[in-house]
Amino acid sequence: MEHICKITGMNSSQQKKWPLFHSLLTGNLVRNEIELSSDKLSEEIMQFCSLQETTDEIQERKEAIINHLKKRFNRKFSGSKLTAFGSSESGLGLKNGDIDLCLEFKGEKPKKVLTKIARMLREDGMEDVTLIAHAKVPIVKFIDSRTKIPIDISINNSLAIYNTSLLKLYNDCDVRVRPFVLSIKNWALHRGICNAAYGTFSSYAWTMIALQFLQSCNPPILPNIQHGENRILKEVEGTTYDLTMNDNPNELLKLENKSNIGQLIIDFFDQFSKEWPWDENVISLRSGKMISRKEKNWEEKKPKLIDALIDENKLRLGKHSLPVEDPFDHLHDLSRVLRTEGVMDIREEFLRAYNVLCDGGSWSELTKTKFPELVNDSPQTDLFEDLRDIPKQDLIDKLE
Ligand code: CTP
Ligand code: MG
Repeated sequence: MEHICKITGMNSSQQKKWPLFHSLLTGNLVRNEIELSSDKLSEEIMQFCSLQETTDEIQERKEAIINHLKKRFNRKFSGSKLTAFGSSESGLGLKNGDIDLCLEFKGEKPKKVLTKIARMLREDGMEDVTLIAHAKVPIVKFIDSRTKIPIDISINNSLAIYNTSLLKLYNDCDVRVRPFVLSIKNWALHRGICNAAYGTFSSYAWTMIALQFLQSCNPPILPNIQHGENRILKEVEGTTYDLTMNDNPNELLKLENKSNIGQLIIDFFDQFSKEWPWDENVISLRSGKMISRKEKNWEEKKPKLIDALIDENKLRLGKHSLPVEDPFDHLHDLSRVLRTEGVMDIREEFLRAYNVLCDGGSWSELTKTKFPELVNDSPQTDLFEDLRDIPKQDLIDKLE
């Protein structure tokens, strides 16, 4: 007989899948204190980060692909402009991150342009060319056949170019920003909670969460770059946005925070597992601190998490489950992609991370890969790796 918990209503397989979160809900979670030396963790994280630097070879190849595509698009879509954005431009990317490209072009409807691009890329021999036409921002995804680097192309996604500039400015504020953001992204990626298509947060949303933490630690490591007297309003794709970005962000900070990266990571998991911020708040980078759900008018809509989970009709989770406001598009809640199981996983993973740290855990234990198939860990760091097992004559033919 299936055992249904009287307190939560969760069945036994659900209790088994999210054991720590279930214990938290029933009041049975045993909490130790983290007594870890932050120095060891810092060392491990810095070593991990040093492995995330892209090699000159990959960088050159990335630039070559972008230049090649620029020429291709210029011929086909006269007057168009191709711009790189996302983490490869902000500097907040993992080594195996994708290249995000935006084609600004006014002549035809975006979906029509993307269909043409997809056809062209297939003709060019690119791999896994996929058109995702129904997303909020339609894109063509493909993999560069030589380097295996994943590439996304979107049309007139101009706001993303601005938010990339904002993220780059944050990255430039302090040397700890990059290792901190990469650590959170890497943890989320390897623990299976960084995939908007599967109902967890996007990589971009995790970046917001990480940066907000650095804005609200004491004393803050990051200022609010969108703070300033002279507001800059611009029209982007028919809507006016406030795109103010402060020129001297570091002047906004008064005191110096001396924590090392290991300590910041410990504090991050300590905070999220003890005081779940989303019960009352919205992550809001442009405010420089979390703001209340009430003030934002983003109350959690029904069905709420556990109700949606135990409902036999598999209801879709209500809006604003873990709200994260986009820094420029204030109406956009980055948590709208979340699904019930995804939020359960996110809660469980925060509690797991805390326990790993309590047990004196290492960085590799903290970021142990849960679903290897979701982690792209093997792009071509060596461009000729795939040619090594090929007989010599075939190799000569291939290179020609
Ligand atoms: N973006 C956005 N709104 C979203 C998701 C993404 O504006 N809801 C923009 C951001 O500029 C983001 C970029 O699209 O940086 C690329 O998204 P993605 O590749 O998912 O994130 P990255 O920040 O590039 O991270 P990764 O290193 O994982 O590629
Ligand atoms: Mg990207």
